Amino acid sequence: MDLFAGISEKLSEKTEGLTAEDIRNMLEIPPDPAMGDCALPCFKLARTMRMAPPKIAEALSEGLEIDGIREIKTAGGYLNFYFDNAAFSAGVLGDVLSNESYGSSEEGQGRNVCIDYSSVNIAKPFHIGHLSSTAIGNSLYRIYKYMGYNPVGINHLGDWGTQFGKLIAAYKLWGDDEKIEKDSVSAMLELYVKFHEEAEKDDSLNDEGRAWFKKIEDGDEEALRIFNWFSELTLREAKKVYSMLDIEFDHYTGESFYNDKMDPIVDELKEKGLLEQDEGAYIVRLDEENIPPAIILKSDGATLYCTRDLAAAQYRHDTFDFAKSLYVVAYQQSLHFKQLFAVLKKMGREWAKDCEHVAFGMVSLEGGDTLSTRKGKVVLLIDVLNAAVKKTLETINEKNPDLEDKEQTAHDIGVGAVIYSTLSAGRIKDISFSLDRVLNFDGETGPYVQYTHVRAASVLRKYEGDCSSPDYSVFNEPDAFAVVKQISEFSSAVKTACEKNEPSVITRWVTLLCQYFNKYYYDTRIIDEDEGKTAARIMLTKAVKQTVKQGLYLLGIKAPERM
Ligand code: ARG
Repeated sequence: MDLFAGISEKLSEKTEGLTAEDIRNMLEIPPDPAMGDCALPCFKLARTMRMAPPKIAEALSEGLEIDGIREIKTAGGYLNFYFDNAAFSAGVLGDVLSNESYGSSEEGQGRNVCIDYSSVNIAKPFHIGHLSSTAIGNSLYRIYKYMGYNPVGINHLGDWGTQFGKLIAAYKLWGDDEKIEKDSVSAMLELYVKFHEEAEKDDSLNDEGRAWFKKIEDGDEEALRIFNWFSELTLREAKKVYSMLDIEFDHYTGESFYNDKMDPIVDELKEKGLLEQDEGAYIVRLDEENIPPAIILKSDGATLYCTRDLAAAQYRHDTFDFAKSLYVVAYQQSLHFKQLFAVLKKMGREWAKDCEHVAFGMVSLEGGDTLSTRKGKVVLLIDVLNAAVKKTLETINEKNPDLEDKEQTAHDIGVGAVIYSTLSAGRIKDISFSLDRVLNFDGETGPYVQYTHVRAASVLRKYEGDCSSPDYSVFNEPDAFAVVKQISEFSSAVKTACEKNEPSVITRWVTLLCQYFNKYYYDTRIIDEDEGKTAARIMLTKAVKQTVKQGLYLLGIKAPERM
């Protein structure tokens, strides 16, 4: 039962020119339940109704009766609604327990949404800096699906550039197949570092690097064989991380996939007179957007990151006819995406407005440096995940040594903790990461939320009766009702998370739900002699378990039954 809908419906009959949807968007939840369970701030209607807000509140309240609302009061410019707790709770719990995908929606109507995320680089480590893109992208993938869209997950691999020529040159000089096969990316990184050291002394190495890159470009068999081998090894490592995180991609189409798809874009830019020569390079000026020009071709005719992204955007449009095309990439690349979208707009692509850079902040280790590949002090994501799992296993061995499936549970909690901490900060914040903090069972952490799920599961295992005649009067108690109200906010949390591309809306919603439930649990015996009341409380516990699990799923986190 959606009382907000009921209220909006009734009010729209009394407000000319405003739809129920308009009113729905104006309704608020007062911070203090004494002010009602829901309120309409009437100043929002002052323009359309041409009256002072208190007068509007009076006028609207006259003769107003709404199913499920026990009292309607005016308070200054506000119209406050008090729910009939029992009726409202019966409705919400009924909805949740009869619908596995409570909170989902058909809003997306199966339309495609491209999500470019994780997008690791070949021959480069999968470091903790990629964590945000990977975790946010995966969560958005699940959220869009829950909203009725068809998400398309794309790993836009960094698999093109002159550095690969250098890498092959280094391999030909000093490479050791066995070592590379065994250590993969770190062996490649060593070669790369060595190449740069040696090239400082001997510039001819750079020519060799360029020659090998030319060979890759020309499709030389040996060059491609070596390069493809490096790609495979890198992906094999990346896929270990993806499998730990339970992530799959629909497409691994990297930059090189667009090698043969850029000419039409460059030609069109020329034809439309958008391409200008500037110190040898070809650029598109973006003065009207007040940003520096986008570089499309280098003076030697080579394409750039931006050229490839133009071709990729066009390809995604042509292939998927997307409702939205998202790029989950660190905010350091903001200018690149502004330029990309601006060039598309200049080319007359009206769908450029549906492209969005979903930016996020930096991840650093607590007390440590910002993580970067160049300094050689990289923290690998797989090491962070393994450390989290190991630490969790130690805690389990200490606190609950007889737990079945210890390894799996430690995996779910350790990995979940890392994901939760990445998502909960809100995208644009820089995160400093501490294993101790993310694994804490108190506070706003993954384990805290998972533990609430476990607690609900354990209560339910103890209960043997049925729930055929629940006594919903238990929800007149404010702490119980707070839990129900929070559950009923699930769909709007998912919707907001989707609209803002912000999974932290869901971490906040689920954490709050757990806090309300835990408070209730501490002060109340769920199972007692009163059958009707017990039944109602058990239904609440089931609904909490189900929605917490679903919320965690949307974040990409598992919900263990025991821990
Ligand atoms: N590989 C790039 C990096 O690690 C991210 C690619 C993002 N996607 C894109 N279409 N540009 O920085």
